[in-house]
Amino acid sequence: MGRVVAVVGATGAVGQDLCRLLEARSFPCDDRLVAIASARSVAAGAHVRFRGRDIAVRALTEERVFDGVDLALFSAGASRSLEHAPRAVAAGATVVDNSSGWRMNAEVPLVVAEVNPQALDALPRGIVANPNCTTMIAMLPLKALHDRFGLESMVVTSFQAAGGAGQKGIDELEAQIEPLFARRDLLRRDGAEAAALVTHQVHHSTLAFNVTPLIGVETESGYTDEELKLQNESRKILDLPDLAVAPTCVRVPVMVGHAVAVRACFTKRIDLDEAMAALQAFPGLSVEPAPTPLEWAGRDDVAVGRIRPDLVDRNALNFFVVGDNLLKGAALNAVQIGELLVQRGSV
Ligand code: A2P
Repeated sequence: MGRVVAVVGATGAVGQDLCRLLEARSFPCDDRLVAIASARSVAAGAHVRFRGRDIAVRALTEERVFDGVDLALFSAGASRSLEHAPRAVAAGATVVDNSSGWRMNAEVPLVVAEVNPQALDALPRGIVANPNCTTMIAMLPLKALHDRFGLESMVVTSFQAAGGAGQKGIDELEAQIEPLFARRDLLRRDGAEAAALVTHQVHHSTLAFNVTPLIGVETESGYTDEELKLQNESRKILDLPDLAVAPTCVRVPVMVGHAVAVRACFTKRIDLDEAMAALQAFPGLSVEPAPTPLEWAGRDDVAVGRIRPDLVDRNALNFFVVGDNLLKGAALNAVQIGELLVQRGSV
């Protein structure tokens, strides 16, 4: 019998991509995938398709649901992961967790497959954390440049897709488009009235035909928890505890595909040719003139473009990064971590 993989949150936006990628990448596992979601999905008779089979969804609360599981990929939110990942580990599984629940735990490695796979050497809790989707895509070019020039600080502004808030984030944006388009006269004449035509619960304001400069919950610092992830997770992944980060996270009316504008400052003077060569050579990264999130939706690689030496600081470089937040930003990296764990004999 082969390795048994469980997907927790199998009915969600990331969970569906996890199942699809395990199949598409021929992940070395048994055909009997364990698909897990809420009791609601079980009551509704939800199924997941895997390698030509329909697999009935099981409830996360089911007592022995992790029995026999070797690798559990979690994508069902932080509170579920904090509560149930230790159950999976106790049953003998290694967990790769896509939520924010375990990311900053000192005993849990936070891994971008191409950037810091060596962090998988020690797994004291049996849990590996998958980084935040925005941080994830920024890490590839930043690591390429850090290895040459020594990263010191960065100003990072995100343009995050609705899908970063899961299926419910996509649904909310979709529901807003037609009502606002039908009253497009208001979009110029009275935007506040247009915004009030629809409701919003997931995003902080009406997102259709708009941008929202607030993602997550504001903390005492004035930065949101989403913005602080960019600081704290970048420091942990790059092993740069003093990295200075000025983050701003913005939600934009894109379905899937995050973008990040970065001004990165280094200890060494930037040589543009060397910087381009480092970016071009980095695995999983494409160098493009001006990549856009829409054109990168559904693609595995991350793209970097608009690469410009700074007008003021010779040690700084400006660039724009795009990546599919559900793929490299979430499901793909989780499956890549699973592949690395298999290669290392850890599962
Ligand atoms: P369900 O569909 O049964 O609610 P998304 O990020 O796209 O919103 O997906 C969230 C995923 O997490 C879904 O698969 C969802 O399952 C799952 N999930 C949410 N709440 C729970 C819960 N209490 N127990 C188990 N799974 C949950």
